[in-house]
Amino acid sequence: MKHLRSIDEVSAESILSVLKTADAMAEVNSRPIPKVPALRGKTVVSLFFEDSTRTRLSFETAAKRLSADTMTFSVGTSSVNKGESLRDTIETVSAMGVDAFVVRHKTSGVPWQISEWTDASVVNAGDGWHQHPTQALLDAYTIRVGLNRPERFDGLHIGIVGDVKHSRVARSDVQAFTKLGAKVTLVAPSTLLPASLEGWPVEICHDLDDVLPALDVVYLLRMQIERQEQSLVPSLREYSTRYGLDVPRSRRMQEHALVMHPGPMNRGVEIVVDPSSLRGSRVIQQVSHGVSVRMAVLFHLLGQGGELVEESGAL
Ligand code: CP
Repeated sequence: MKHLRSIDEVSAESILSVLKTADAMAEVNSRPIPKVPALRGKTVVSLFFEDSTRTRLSFETAAKRLSADTMTFSVGTSSVNKGESLRDTIETVSAMGVDAFVVRHKTSGVPWQISEWTDASVVNAGDGWHQHPTQALLDAYTIRVGLNRPERFDGLHIGIVGDVKHSRVARSDVQAFTKLGAKVTLVAPSTLLPASLEGWPVEICHDLDDVLPALDVVYLLRMQIERQEQSLVPSLREYSTRYGLDVPRSRRMQEHALVMHPGPMNRGVEIVVDPSSLRGSRVIQQVSHGVSVRMAVLFHLLGQGGELVEESGAL
């Protein structure tokens, strides 16, 4: 892999290979000194034109744990504020010697543009409503670990609930989960689904209570109020009543079923219970798996067979 821009560009075999590497990275992360020299001499730049907590910090942590040098680009204090274009910004930062750009931008397609302006690898950390491939990989890894599925997801039924229309996470997850063999049902009112679902390998359900008892994974999406130009549900309260995960609904889930959410959560809207009180909740594990999976991604893109040894050199 040269870039990771979309799950669409990654085969099922490559997904499984990254998830397997994430197992090795999780082992590194469990060590007293969670650091290996695999990417020593490489430079990874975080280029976030949109806000982020989880993705930016976990990529920076991942790069540091692999001993890469990191640069963080803060739009608010950069020459973008003086009118410097995206292309000039990329070419300027590239000239400093960069091996990978981790990019988040509000406009779909920006990672593809950037990869034309630099020889460095480009990792899409979220472009508009379009793709968030490392979120999909960490979600797949969370399911792999949580449901003990080291290979494919055949026979699993995953429900993705809520604001699919504005969600790059949903688009990436649908591709990753179905490539691995899972059945995916989108659960939402029509107003929160894309205008066309042509080519989406999914089933549709408008009633969470109908499908809930059949699901192995209940994946709740954040209601992206900031991306909605008009009110797409009568009220958040009504949305929550029909699609929010509350205590009575959580009791109707299968015993083994997982509850996931990409974060940040709108507590009281898509999730009405405290997730830490739910047996199947993997919301916190998703975050810690994010570090292992992003280490695996950087290793696949930039690694040259560096062994996963501790700083001391011991195995
Ligand atoms: N899930 C996710 O992308 O979170 P952040 O916006 O905090 O990075």
